[in-house]
Amino acid sequence: MRDLSLFITFEGGEGCGKSVQAKALYERLCREGIPATLTYEPGGTPLGDEICRILKWNEDLDITPLTELLLFSASRSQLVHTVIKPNLEERRVVICDRFTDSTTVYQGYGRGLDTEVIRTINDTATQGLHPNLTILLDLPVEAGLTRKSNSQQDRFENEDTTFHEKVRQGYLKLAAEEPERWLVIDASQSKEIIADIIWQKVSQLLHRGA
Ligand code: TMP
Repeated sequence: MRDLSLFITFEGGEGCGKSVQAKALYERLCREGIPATLTYEPGGTPLGDEICRILKWNEDLDITPLTELLLFSASRSQLVHTVIKPNLEERRVVICDRFTDSTTVYQGYGRGLDTEVIRTINDTATQGLHPNLTILLDLPVEAGLTRKSNSQQDRFENEDTTFHEKVRQGYLKLAAEEPERWLVIDASQSKEIIADIIWQKVSQLLHRGA
């Protein structure tokens, strides 16, 4: 069908269902015989998974916002260099569950770090790589946190509603600023409907590259 690399990222607040949808898209691509790679942030490499464990679960280290930004970026640098770029070079579709936009909204809008500084660090960590398509699964904060309330809460899920509201509004702002890259989906719809919307968009892009 196509012979061009495609880089697709999934974004959204807690409990929005993006990991389920990233996996569903990956499985659909495999069924269609399209070479695809699924990865995630923070983590996706042995080093990144170590960093992820510290960032999500170590409540005792008193990590400052800037240190947090640099740790996410270190994990991303390793992932881009060892997984994302090599797979794109092999002309595979690469799907990443969270990417630079997570940093812009969580560390920028959420923690209040300067978004220009974040942009520079994001561009450095990714060697200037940008997604072709970013799928935002948008859900009211309370609904997302309720979905997560039965599992153990990590350092981010433990943040208050105001933090998560800033994250949600940050995502909507980024999507409005760059509508050609973002697909915003109401994540309160059924998994099947959401998967269909995503597949329609991705197959359009695949045919465009054919
Ligand atoms: P997740 O496994 O639920 O996606 O958890 C990752 C958490 O880390 C989530 O709360 C968002 C947060 N995060 C950031 O704050 N900045 C980032 O750059 C990334 C990738 C994730």
